[in-house]
Amino acid sequence: MTAAGGERDAGLPAGRPSGLVGKEVAGYRVEAEIGRGGMAVVYQARDLRLDRTVALKLLAPELARNDTFRKRFAHESRVAASIDHPHIVPVFEAGETEGVLYIAMRYVAGRDLAALLAREGPLPPVTAGRIAAQVASALDAAHAHDLVHRDVKPGNVLVAEGTDREHPEHVYLTDFGLTKKSLSLTGFTTVGEFVGTLDYVAPEQISGKPVDGRCDVYGLACVVFETLSGVPPFRRETDWAVLWAQQYDPPPPLAEFRPGLPEAADAVFARALAKTPEERYGTCLEFVAELRAALAEEPGGPAVPTGVVPRAPGPPPEPPVWARPVFRRLGDGS
Ligand SMILES: Nc1ncnc2c1ncn2[C@@H]1O[C@H](COP(=O)(O)OP(=O)(O)O)[C@@H](O)[C@H]1O
Ligand SMILES: [Mg+2]
Repeated sequence: MTAAGGERDAGLPAGRPSGLVGKEVAGYRVEAEIGRGGMAVVYQARDLRLDRTVALKLLAPELARNDTFRKRFAHESRVAASIDHPHIVPVFEAGETEGVLYIAMRYVAGRDLAALLAREGPLPPVTAGRIAAQVASALDAAHAHDLVHRDVKPGNVLVAEGTDREHPEHVYLTDFGLTKKSLSLTGFTTVGEFVGTLDYVAPEQISGKPVDGRCDVYGLACVVFETLSGVPPFRRETDWAVLWAQQYDPPPPLAEFRPGLPEAADAVFARALAKTPEERYGTCLEFVAELRAALAEEPGGPAVPTGVVPRAPGPPPEPPVWARPVFRRLGDGS
């Protein structure tokens, strides 16, 4: 790490990266801090070789000290960088400089979904559906490369301006493979505090079982639930209560938080948020397609229940033969 004046930035490897504005890191000039999560700081930076703006993510030094994480970081950054998808943030470079892991990626102008929800509150179902579909297509593409995201959450969904009226927003998913393999490994600090959020983790991640793309179906469903209702499905007072709820509680009806949303959506969430991966939708796009269809129905239930032919206006049809005695008697009494 070299500071702008050629001095070594002694602060970086020791603590969390900070105070780097104006300095040079691995060929990038740090221009401004964009945001920070539990394990990293993201900066707007200038790629000095190509003279373009990038987002430079510096991971907390303790992650570099974890061998399992480093190996996975190297592998998964490579896989993520190899996926060329319109809804995945392109990774330009991933590496290590003086004991700090970094990723340079496309700088996305806009807000992340967490900030958007904080500002606007729950989004209209049509908007939520559009955003969900873009994230779903990114996840399904990653799954086709055997890459599981594991940390689908509003902070990792970047919402930029879209191209036209039909596509008012362009959504990017970021941070593939940047979480620890299981929560038991490292998610908790030595004092038992959890770094990050438990609101979107699948039950199998909590129990440390092997995960596949279906843990992202679960995470996506939690995010979409929050996009529609303003709160994730299992909001509780403490981290422990959230962990319990993710594993054992059924998701609440959407209308509990936002009256007027069609009941049909609850069944879709029940399946996407099933406790066992086998019971969930097989792909993220399948979940989103069913959800959008459900959201298009009338609030309070389907306007036309599936499988039931609507009755034409006019007098009721003649009862079937077997029912005639009953109806004749009713008719006689009136
Ligand atoms: N490629 C990017 N372009 C623009 N902003 C980004 C980019 N990647 C991340 N950010 C911003 O930086 C913030 C911090 O990112 P991160 O450290 O991953 O924390 P978290 O994902 O927990 O919010 C994100 O919430 C997002 O707003
Ligand atoms: Mg992130």
